[in-house]
Amino acid sequence: MTRGVPVARTVAALRRAVARYRAAGETIALVPTMGALHAGHLSLVRRARRRADRVVVSIFVNPTQFAPSEDFDSYPRTFAADLAALRDVSADLVWAPASVEEMYPPGFATRVVPAGPAAVGLEDAFRPHFFAGVATVVTKLLLQCLPDVAVFGEKDFQQLRVVERIVADLNIPVRIIGAPTVREADGLAMSSRNVYLSAEQRAVAATLYATLSACAEKIREGQRIAAVMRQGRRAIERAGFRLDYLEARHAGTLEPIASLAEGPVRLLVAARLGATRLIDNIAV
Ligand code: PAF
Repeated sequence: MTRGVPVARTVAALRRAVARYRAAGETIALVPTMGALHAGHLSLVRRARRRADRVVVSIFVNPTQFAPSEDFDSYPRTFAADLAALRDVSADLVWAPASVEEMYPPGFATRVVPAGPAAVGLEDAFRPHFFAGVATVVTKLLLQCLPDVAVFGEKDFQQLRVVERIVADLNIPVRIIGAPTVREADGLAMSSRNVYLSAEQRAVAATLYATLSACAEKIREGQRIAAVMRQGRRAIERAGFRLDYLEARHAGTLEPIASLAEGPVRLLVAARLGATRLIDNIAV
């Protein structure tokens, strides 16, 4: 029988494990997650494996990035299955705080609040609490583990850019690596929240990536971004989604962009099917 992946339950235990790796001269990669792991997360772990000697995966459903109206209580928690999956991809250590208080002890009062073009609009317009929650917990995770590299999925493209900004601004000595989105056979981006979709919604959900792909293709062919975005928004709403946004942004800075001549373009979308909110993005 293969041994299970060791689990650190306290910051002190995490630091002891990391100190042992460092003492052996090993490099460390961190893959931050909220658990409910799927093939997308496992691809991040495999990528991390290629970049460092040791891979630490954090599993923490971070309450500060959920608004009171959101799904913190019902967010899928599948710890036993997560551990089995992480053993199969040879993760070295799971950092799973024993309680919310281990991460946010009584008296906790500091927040990292990102600003600038990457943090403005898109998700921030619809989930104003989100990036301060992510920025605070990611900063803590990076400082707790002090990895050489940390791997984030491109599925949360704005999050990736915000994390890059924080690390640069706060001089956190880590290299941030973005990893491509893993998709179902019909194109739907893998997400822990896909389990919420009914069979009927699941069929509609796949049209989101099809629309993104069609929009990207039209822009590549030379059609005007503004017109393509209007058509894309209509197509998404006609398919049965409630659209939060479909926007074209500069892929590097996330500033609004009007034409391909201005730089690399990324299309980003968020839309709801019933109570489930899906996000996705594509390079043009
Ligand atoms: O992308 C996620 O799963 C979360 O936002 C993260 C980065 C683990 C922070 O809680």
